[in-house]
Amino acid sequence: MGKIISMSFIYFLLFLLFLSLFSLFLFYTFLLIGYLITKVPFVSLSKKDIHKILKMMNLKEGEVLVDLGCGDSQFLIEAEKKYKVKTIGYELSLTAFILSKINILLKKAKTKIYLKDFFKINLSYSDVIFCYLFPNVMARLSEKLKKEVKTGTKIFSLAFPLPDWPNEKILYLDEKNKKGKIFIYQK
Ligand SMILES: C[S@@+](CC[C@H](N)C(=O)[O-])C[C@H]1O[C@@H](n2cnc3c(N)ncnc32)[C@H](O)[C@@H]1O
Repeated sequence: MGKIISMSFIYFLLFLLFLSLFSLFLFYTFLLIGYLITKVPFVSLSKKDIHKILKMMNLKEGEVLVDLGCGDSQFLIEAEKKYKVKTIGYELSLTAFILSKINILLKKAKTKIYLKDFFKINLSYSDVIFCYLFPNVMARLSEKLKKEVKTGTKIFSLAFPLPDWPNEKILYLDEKNKKGKIFIYQK
């Protein structure tokens, strides 16, 4: 009897091990697929950096804040909770999208996220746009935003500039050491 129970327990542990490895496999496979589609890796920001950027944005209650490539949506959730703005994100990596959904659920946030390519979305409704992308997509994004966003829209791009936008302003996450550039534009 005791032998049967211990065998069942070993099978149960093996099943749990298999389930964990399979989940890890799915997590990294979808992360890789996301990267192959977008050519932009999923990297999440620290809470400290999120709040530094949000402070720079000088958000007003009710404004619409959009994150292009919202990752795990921590940025949008923090913005919604602290500044009472409407938050919308687009994400193409299934792994990041699922993490977003879990975070939104856990934090009881109203942030809306879509598993969509932001290049296919008309962004004219945005008041403030945030992005943390890669140099290979910035020229295309720059053209899109120039054509599309309404007058007054503010754009904050972490790490990489939008080519050919006038009146570029630069702030730093680490002002003292001039590290972590935030490129700021207004239409
Ligand atoms: C560096 S992460 C930034 C995540 C988040 N914005 C943050 O700051 O924590 C960039 C994300 O953009 C997503 N992405 C890149 N191009 C995209 C596109 N065209 N449409 C939707 N998501 C995109 C990637 O999948 C990746 O998760």
